[in-house]
This record gives sequence, C-alpha cells and structure tokens, in this order.
Amino acid sequence: MTSRLVVLISGSGSNLAAVISACAGGRLDATVVAVLSNRRAAFGLERARAAGIATDYAPLGAWLRAGGSRESYDADLAQRVAAFGPDLVVLAGWMHILGAAFLDRFAGRVLNLHPALPGAFAGTDAIARALAAFRRGEIDHTGVMVHEVVAEVDAGPVVATAVVPIEEDDDLERLSARVHAAEHRLLVEAIAAVTAGAASNDSNDSSAKESP
Ligand code: GAR
Repeated sequence: MTSRLVVLISGSGSNLAAVISACAGGRLDATVVAVLSNRRAAFGLERARAAGIATDYAPLGAWLRAGGSRESYDADLAQRVAAFGPDLVVLAGWMHILGAAFLDRFAGRVLNLHPALPGAFAGTDAIARALAAFRRGEIDHTGVMVHEVVAEVDAGPVVATAVVPIEEDDDLERLSARVHAAEHRLLVEAIAAVTAGAASNDSNDSSAKESP
C-alpha cells in the first residue's frame, strides 16, 4: 500500500525534492501528502507548492510570543501533522527539537535526517564541524544518517548510514555538496526500508489475525 508521508522542513528542501522525485519516479511506493515548515521563507515550501502538495506553516517564535508554551506548540504541530493521516513523518532539515507532546502521537514513526554519523556532531553546523575536525587531524571521514526520533537531539535507533570521505582540498562548499548528495540517496533508501518493513508487519499482523 502506498505510504503517506508528511515532511517537515526549515530550509531549502533539497532532500524533500529528492523524496518527491523518488515518489514520482516509482522508486518509493509513497506519496508526500503535506509539507510543514517553521519558516515562511523556506524554499522547500515553494518546491512543495510547485509539486501540488499541501503546505502548512507553523512558526515557533510567534507561538511563544502569543503566550503559548513549547509543549503546546509541539501538541499543536502534532495535531496539524495528524490531520494529514501520515504513515511516516520525515524531518528533512527541520531545525526544532520535538518533545513528547509531538513524538508520543507518532511513536516510532518519525524519522530524522542528520548530516553526520551516529554519535558525531549532533546539532547545527555538523558539516562545518566535521571539516574543522578533519583539519585538526582528528577524523578522515564524516557521513550522514537517518534515525528514528527520540527526545535526545540527533540520536535514536539508526535506520541507515553512509560514510563520506573528506578530501585534502575540500572546502565547506565541496564537502557539503558530497554530503548532500549522500543524503538525497540515503533518505530515499531509508524511507523505502521503513515503509516496506511497516507494510510487511501489517501483512504479518493480518495473516496472524486470520489464523485460527
Ligand atoms: C540537511 O543537510 C539535513 O541533514 C540538515 O539540514 C539540511 C537540510 O537541507 N539537518 C540537520 O542538520 C538536523 N540536525 P535541505 O533543506 O536542502 O534538505
């Protein structure tokens, strides 16, 4: 069964574009039913509209200034996402930490993409920090990962990883381009694996129910 994806973004949405294109090209048995952003100017919203996908905008700053709490923002965001009936929620460059008020609503069904390997460079500017570590002689590669989201930042059960070697003449632009290319592939593979796993669990469940 075709899986319904809701994608949360904060920026350019190049990973969103990779997912949309994989759905359109039949490489993913899925459809992006909605894209939500915390930033009105996020280019990913334009990509979504151009593809005819529903969009929503949920700014945290305005919510807090109006007297809302962080927890109530997460609960409201969960409600907005749930309205689209997702099988899987994908954080593709979403730059807010989500707490229990969001995560409990979609237990085990929220994936995050991060431009570093598990346990390394959590948080922002991961690629720049990896390049700095390379220049200090501490590492010779970085990578990307997709993981299930838990309350801890850029941590949680790992779904897929890819290593990206760092080259002597890399600057931030060159390294970022290779990391992003790896992300575009890995995110599609991870969604394919998770949605296929969910589908086979569903069919196992139904056959179990049908057994006497
Ligand atoms: C991606 O590199 C993603 O891994 C990163 O934001 C970028 C979004 O790019 N996410 C994080 O750093 C999360 N901690 P995009 O908007 O072009 O897809």
